[in-house]
Amino acid sequence: MNHRFKTLLLLLIASFVSVSFFYWSYPSWSNLVPIPFVNGDLIQSENAVSGMTTFNAPKYRPLDYATPKSHEIVILLASDGHTSNGNGASFFQECIDNRIAYAKEHNYAFEFVNVSSMPIPPVWAKMPAILATMDKYPQAKWIWWLDQDAIIMNKKLSLQDHLLSKKALRRSLLRNQHYLNNQDATETHLVTPSEYSDADLDKVGLIISRDLNGLNAGSFFVRVNPIMRMFVDVWSDKAYRENKVSENEQSLLGYLMKNHPEMASYVGFVPQKMINSYDASEDVQRYTQGDLLIHFAGCWVENRCERIWRQYYDEMKLNWNL
Ligand SMILES: *[C@@H]1O[C@H](CO)[C@@H](O)[C@H](O)[C@H]1NC(C)=O
Repeated sequence: MNHRFKTLLLLLIASFVSVSFFYWSYPSWSNLVPIPFVNGDLIQSENAVSGMTTFNAPKYRPLDYATPKSHEIVILLASDGHTSNGNGASFFQECIDNRIAYAKEHNYAFEFVNVSSMPIPPVWAKMPAILATMDKYPQAKWIWWLDQDAIIMNKKLSLQDHLLSKKALRRSLLRNQHYLNNQDATETHLVTPSEYSDADLDKVGLIISRDLNGLNAGSFFVRVNPIMRMFVDVWSDKAYRENKVSENEQSLLGYLMKNHPEMASYVGFVPQKMINSYDASEDVQRYTQGDLLIHFAGCWVENRCERIWRQYYDEMKLNWNL
């Protein structure tokens, strides 16, 4: 064998070895293991989540140019099939269809957690469901929580372009915002940064919006990382619920932000219409064509859920060819 041929052969073998190492060391999206430091026994409480259904499993796309990559985003719904007023069972399948269509369009995961066997009111089941989703998708970058009584209306809009890429985040986050709603704002001087550096943007772990009453947890985004896992873990602590610190999950979030500036510093606000438009009369919150979604918050007050759900669902179906 001449020298040149040997060198060539060696090079070939070396490149084969490195290419295959690279290939095999990529995690397969369907085989991710839960974060190791979560001790299953410790979280087997009333927070334990049993029925998880993957309604859309994304394709693993390591070469996706977007950041975060499409398969690193999980859309999450946890419900007992009803909305907060006990109605809405008839919309359940339509809600699922709407989200599957959107998730497929953009290659996102769509996960459903059935909370009907959990011994707590569904709004308090959001946080355990988020924790369970973090365990199931430890490689995910973001989880989008969206209530059942909402319809995604703009199929073309990707979450990265709209909100989650660094560029979109920088454009969207509200500066100099009091962490609390207008009534409470005087009690604290905490405000969001007047400018977001790259490091600040990377730190933002919870993106939420406020309606005219304050925080609304119908639509929000949580980054998947150890700090946000701890954040949500604290948020899920049943002691707050049992001792009636807050009446629901969103007012508890307000409480935590008010009393724990360190936690507040991970929260970013965006204009309501970006992630949580309503069927309402005020411009700042009224759904208009092109918005990402419409959320029927409080529609049961005037008993108009069925009518407006039908109206917007039909409009969406027509536009999406569902
Ligand atoms: C949730 O689970 C319960 C029983 O565990 C079942 O009766 C119900 O149909 C499930 N609901 C949905 C929406 O999957």
